[in-house]
Amino acid sequence: MRISVSPSPPLAVRGEIVHFTDDPAERGSDACAHFPDGLLLIRDGHVLDCGPAAELESKLPTDARRVDYSGKLILPGFIDTHTHSAQTEIIASHGEHLAEWLEKYAWPAEARHAAPAHAASEAGFFCDQLLRHGTTTAMVFTTVHPVSADALFEAARARRMRMIAGKVLMDRNCPPALRDDPALGDAQSRALIEKWHGRDRLAYAVTPRFAPTSSEEQMRLAGRLFSEIPGLYLQTHLAEQRAETAWAMRLSPNARSYLDIYERFAHIAPRSNFAHCLWIDDEDCRLMAERGAAVSFCPTSNLFLGSGLFDLARARRFGLRVGLGTDIGAGTSFSMLQTLAEAYKVLRLAGQTLTPEAGFYLATLGGARALRLESRIGSFLQDKEADFIVLDPHATPLLKARTTRAATLTERLFALMTLGDDRCVAATYLLGEIAFAQQKGTVA
Ligand code: GUN
Ligand code: ZN
Repeated sequence: MRISVSPSPPLAVRGEIVHFTDDPAERGSDACAHFPDGLLLIRDGHVLDCGPAAELESKLPTDARRVDYSGKLILPGFIDTHTHSAQTEIIASHGEHLAEWLEKYAWPAEARHAAPAHAASEAGFFCDQLLRHGTTTAMVFTTVHPVSADALFEAARARRMRMIAGKVLMDRNCPPALRDDPALGDAQSRALIEKWHGRDRLAYAVTPRFAPTSSEEQMRLAGRLFSEIPGLYLQTHLAEQRAETAWAMRLSPNARSYLDIYERFAHIAPRSNFAHCLWIDDEDCRLMAERGAAVSFCPTSNLFLGSGLFDLARARRFGLRVGLGTDIGAGTSFSMLQTLAEAYKVLRLAGQTLTPEAGFYLATLGGARALRLESRIGSFLQDKEADFIVLDPHATPLLKARTTRAATLTERLFALMTLGDDRCVAATYLLGEIAFAQQKGTVA
């Protein structure tokens, strides 16, 4: 926290403000706060107030700094609950099933992260991509090399981003160059936790890649570490593909289900995050919900690898915490707008739907809740960290043509999530300071 004798002048950001105070799928329109001509007041990186400009203008101190984004939308920064920082360079590598895709593309890309200079440049590029796409917080797999976790934490810290990440644990069924062992993986994770966990806006996630690539001993040590240190996260993959699920069950024949393998090693708790969860059953949903674990819905990745269709209605029925993940590089876009577009289509294929409000909730407060960060980020309630984005609904001629015809906020949000991408992100702010702005000419 910054210590100052006299309070610093607030920043007053004007524009059309939209944020969510609850899940619109449950609470309807009451969950959405919308100020067509709004002001977001920020002091020392935190939200001081948010409301109609007409009401707040009169309360503004004379020394307030002002920035005017009239005609644009102001939303909380996007929260990507599942992605991989070492897979940027293999995004859009021609489709295969998961096992072949890992071998052909992911393993070689991750192996290159043993080199500190490469790890550092990739981590910087990854963070810059997140920011230019409007993502201010992410939960991230690095690689088995501690240097790749160091590089990501350093890059996020230099940019003042909120980041949860961990070194991958994997000691079997992978190339020797990417293999640790239970004791080494545990010691390396502990050293990284000591160095990064709780520092600035960073938190550590114990990261067993998935059950097939960790021995029972490694899974046991991961569970022990996860429960030992307060505030730690655990991230892994669960039931992404049918063949992978069958493989996991062959490796653990006594488990009731794939999730049960993680249960046996105490991996299911409030800060655990299971990516994909496509080939699970009701009992798995019940257990994850009971434990307060989160699941990450990664639609672009699920479509790209032909993995399956996420059942959001079932997740909601069980009261599961759901976040939205890009899952770069099996996922095909850093854009949470594009990810929402594909989420909508995945749900339509499954006979479900996604309202724009429910979608933008998922990408903001829903993600914050999945990561147990809702008291800090995800909305513009007072005292939240002022991570926000400015979206331009006229960023492309097509979007402009569509949004000019849109009669309601709902229609405009839907056009943005269907047609939008990084071109719509006019600016990204972290803790009230600009972290990315489009080139001159596109930002007013
Ligand atoms: N399962 C285990 N590792 C990975 C990965 O890197 N990407 C995806 N999509 N699934 C995985
Ligand atoms: Zn993944």
